[in-house]
Amino acid sequence: MSTLRRILVTSALPYANGPLHFGHVIEAVQTDVWVRFQRLRGHEAYYCCADDTHGTPIMLKAEQEGVTPEQLIARIQAEHERDYAGFLIRFDRFHSTHSPENKALVEGFYAKLKAAGHIAVRTIAQAYDAEKGMFLPDRFIKGECPRCGTAEQYGDACESCGATYSPADLKNPRSVLSGATPVTRESEHHFFKLGAFTGFLRDWTARGVDDSVRAKLAEWFSVGLKDWDISRDAPYFGFEIPGAPGKYFYVWLDAPMGYMASFKALCADRARSAVPQRFDHFWAAPAQGKTQHNHTIGKDITNIHTMLLPAVLNGAGYPLP
Ligand code: 2FM
Ligand code: ZN
Repeated sequence: MSTLRRILVTSALPYANGPLHFGHVIEAVQTDVWVRFQRLRGHEAYYCCADDTHGTPIMLKAEQEGVTPEQLIARIQAEHERDYAGFLIRFDRFHSTHSPENKALVEGFYAKLKAAGHIAVRTIAQAYDAEKGMFLPDRFIKGECPRCGTAEQYGDACESCGATYSPADLKNPRSVLSGATPVTRESEHHFFKLGAFTGFLRDWTARGVDDSVRAKLAEWFSVGLKDWDISRDAPYFGFEIPGAPGKYFYVWLDAPMGYMASFKALCADRARSAVPQRFDHFWAAPAQGKTQHNHTIGKDITNIHTMLLPAVLNGAGYPLP
């Protein structure tokens, strides 16, 4: 007879700027089936998910609709929950990354990473829209491809010839928001020193990864892992970095912590009726081996889940998925 396992299962957090699409539903159905199967085998399994709520696209969409970001994400979350329920997805908890649990977690992670020397602060130059008064993410700049000259291409890649480049390389660039020509402006950013985790990640990813993922990982390792920019300047919808006024945690840092935040909220819900301190059973370092975390993802977010998340967890002393 196999030993009883305690399993925390998640599927990727849908972004709160629009409705669920088939990809979300397929992923959730597959995850839900797997969770039910584990329970039938007698294991203890929890299925947690949440809406991924921060970032520039949500801030701008709320502005366009004339509502606050909080109102927008509340409406979208209700729609997401309704639609998952329509496909009989049975989450133990569906939470939000814009929650007190997630704020406390991301601040805690940041403090631990900083204390361990894994954070660097330095000034970088970026495209800035002086009319709109904000720095522009790559997808908010358009212009002509520097390689093939095709018009109306985004600041990071050309959809016509496949070239990848930086927004500074675009010809005749303009801000998608105001039409203004972006100017270059400097700003201080906070970085997670991912490169220092190369050896750890090589070892960790060497285990239990399928061939197609292994090939992609080899590509990333061969170009070298760079520092990861985890901050964004105001205006931004997210959590402000403690001790750094006007700087916010980048959405891709707090999104994966939403897995833990959702589980934490589940533990709080059940605090009176179930065994307390389940959260620590899963997330205290000695938990490794007794409990396990399984994240179901689509291939577009492989990088976050095989590089950034494990490195951040390891750097902050947490067990790994
Ligand atoms: O790709 C996406 O749609 C993201 N919202 C997924 C986040 S999953 C995890 F990183 F939190
Ligand atoms: Zn091109």
